[in-house]
Amino acid sequence: MSSLRILLLGSGGRESALARKISQSPRCAALWIAPGNAGTDAYGTTVPSLSPMKFDAVEAFVAENAIDMIVVGNEDPLVAGIYDYFANKGVMVVGPSRDAAALEGSKDFAKAFMQRHNIPTAAYQTFTADTYVQACDFLKTLQAPYVLKADGLAAGKGVLILPDYDEACTALRTMLDGQFGASSAKVVIEEFLSGIECSVFVLTDGNGGYRILPVAKDYKRVGEGDTGLNTGGMGAVSPVPFADEAFMQKVEQRIIIPTIEGLKAEGLVYRGFIFLGLINCAGEPKVIEYNVRMGDPETEVVMPRLASDLVDLLEGCAKGDLANIPAEHDPRAAATVIATSGGYPGSYAKGLPITGDLAPEHSIVFHAGTSRNADGQVVTSGGRVLAVTSYGRDLADALANSYASLANIHFDKMYFRRDIGRDVMK
Ligand code: AMP
Ligand code: GLY
Repeated sequence: MSSLRILLLGSGGRESALARKISQSPRCAALWIAPGNAGTDAYGTTVPSLSPMKFDAVEAFVAENAIDMIVVGNEDPLVAGIYDYFANKGVMVVGPSRDAAALEGSKDFAKAFMQRHNIPTAAYQTFTADTYVQACDFLKTLQAPYVLKADGLAAGKGVLILPDYDEACTALRTMLDGQFGASSAKVVIEEFLSGIECSVFVLTDGNGGYRILPVAKDYKRVGEGDTGLNTGGMGAVSPVPFADEAFMQKVEQRIIIPTIEGLKAEGLVYRGFIFLGLINCAGEPKVIEYNVRMGDPETEVVMPRLASDLVDLLEGCAKGDLANIPAEHDPRAAATVIATSGGYPGSYAKGLPITGDLAPEHSIVFHAGTSRNADGQVVTSGGRVLAVTSYGRDLADALANSYASLANIHFDKMYFRRDIGRDVMK
């Protein structure tokens, strides 16, 4: 089998974990990460000047470096149509077409898709400024709390959960009046579901072939005990004890297969990762959201638990023969804890020197929001700075390893949650 020259787009902890896994493959001849971070040089060549959203610049880079495959880490280039841009240009792109990426780019599209294919999800309706009165009437038919979702991409901030009816109507008005720009010109109002969430990742090849990756759970709130503001994610664990075989059977039969078949039946070209944000409602899985990429920080535990060769799997996606390629799971547990900049997800300082042991024996330190200053020192450059991942016999053991490694890493105002995984280990 031939080896591939690969360009990975993105710069977070997710891309660090994908880069490490790709670089471990004997099939990887060369790897570039654009724009990357201060840690991605460990896995390939970092290209800080290349922006994933400038498709013409990406095209020139692909030509200059004879790239065979582009792997897209985050949703923006996918929703903007990078798959379609490179169609028939002699380079494989792992990801959905622009039309299929609307599963993440438009909540209304995703909900209607689920309804068409009988995929379990919360009841909903979609409204615009012209139907505000009807929206308030619809809210009356639901029980508190009320879930309002901006239709379009809103950097993870477009979902509001309001405790009472009047607040929900006020918040809806603000959203429709442009709180999230064009993204909230349409708002999805849906039934509140209660239960515990998990993230299921599937690779699909657009031909009906699919592979289920290890299940993970992330911790979105900034504070311990799931309190405070939402963040991109403060930590993750895999496996997820409640996502047992019986639960995963339901996920596969009721959600994964109808999703894959639905995409095919509607002619939506999709050759990449599907992220199912699920909620366990008394043993019944329902879809909270689709994303068209891997999760961050889930990738930092999912990739370490993928025992099979990722490049083989990605090529299977792109070429449409995933059904012939194994995706074995590592039996060990994995946990990741995110070291964040104090103040995140609000404002925080950047450029703070990171010191201590960034290559500990019992953990993998994935860089996320890091860069190098003029002296070449590694400094903070984002809210989520490092993802410290460890293996263990079980989750408790994996978490103990990550916390021990974090004790030897320092930057001013570093903050991390000390209770990652605790809710699922009870
Ligand atoms: P989303 O961006 O759709 O994943 O929503 C962000 C978060 O809001 C989810 O991870 C859930 O915690 C919560 N959420 C979204 N939809 C619902 C719902 N229908 N019921 C309860 N919680 C929800
Ligand atoms: N960790 C959730 C996400 O990546 O959207």
